[in-house]
Amino acid sequence: MGFMDELKKAGKELKRSLMDIKTAPFVEEMCRLTANMYRLGWDERNGGNISYMLDEKEVAEYLDLNNVIRVIPLMGVEEGKFDCSALAGKIFIVTGTGKYFKNVQEDPEANLGIVRVAENNKGLELLWGYSDGGRTTSELPAHLMCHMARLKVDPQNRVVIHSHPTNTLAMNYVHELDEKKFTHTLWEMCTECIVVFPEGVGILPWMLCGTNTIGEATAEKMSDYRLVVWAMHGVYGSGRTLDETFGLIETVEKASQIYMLTCNLPRINTITDAQLKEIAEFFKVDYRKDFLNLK
Ligand code: 13P
Ligand code: ZN
Repeated sequence: MGFMDELKKAGKELKRSLMDIKTAPFVEEMCRLTANMYRLGWDERNGGNISYMLDEKEVAEYLDLNNVIRVIPLMGVEEGKFDCSALAGKIFIVTGTGKYFKNVQEDPEANLGIVRVAENNKGLELLWGYSDGGRTTSELPAHLMCHMARLKVDPQNRVVIHSHPTNTLAMNYVHELDEKKFTHTLWEMCTECIVVFPEGVGILPWMLCGTNTIGEATAEKMSDYRLVVWAMHGVYGSGRTLDETFGLIETVEKASQIYMLTCNLPRINTITDAQLKEIAEFFKVDYRKDFLNLK
């Protein structure tokens, strides 16, 4: 048997031994999460996007990592101005641009893609998905910049989620967009908020989305915060797992909901700053002390 025949045979054998990607825990988790977020009303139409860094060994149980379907160029970035070489070789599962969270569970192969960041900022190597010719979310530059920023602070960070949660967005229109004041209000709305996001919430003013500029600004905030509000647009959250990141956004959204339900009513009770300090100290979290007004 010639060399080429042997190579083909090895390829066929590998294919036979691979498991069905649709049964992979990371694909199933993405399906469940997008369906939940859609039903919560946070991700209308194609709103929102997710990127989740995968373990290469785990992916290799389902996909032939030498089989690149096509190379996807990075959208929204100016040539030479975007450097994601720190992520070269890393594999992500990413929602597709223009795709609806509503439809992911029904057809993960068309709505999701598994991509590997190519060397030298040469785009993304598609290993699976986007079966109708689709591509990664238009917000991928922002996602990749956030991954790079978070990995510097927490080497175990794996997830970036962008979403349009209803009450968080509503609160943007009626509350001052000051990080200290906004965080303080959220902390006051549910006892455990300060434990879930002790570092507070970062805020960016309204900016054009899908660009290098908003990506850079978000990533800069992500050095200090795991949750960044994009004013009048939505939020960016990051974390080690899909659950943790979802839970972070969910908690901010819940606090915003309580705020929106109560902001037009006379406030007769509240959680005091001394009580917030007490909770934070009890749960031993490193909270933003300058976001409280303590004497
Ligand atoms: P994509 O469809 O490109 O993921 O964009 C959705 C979105 O929310 C943009 O901010
Ligand atoms: Zn958006």
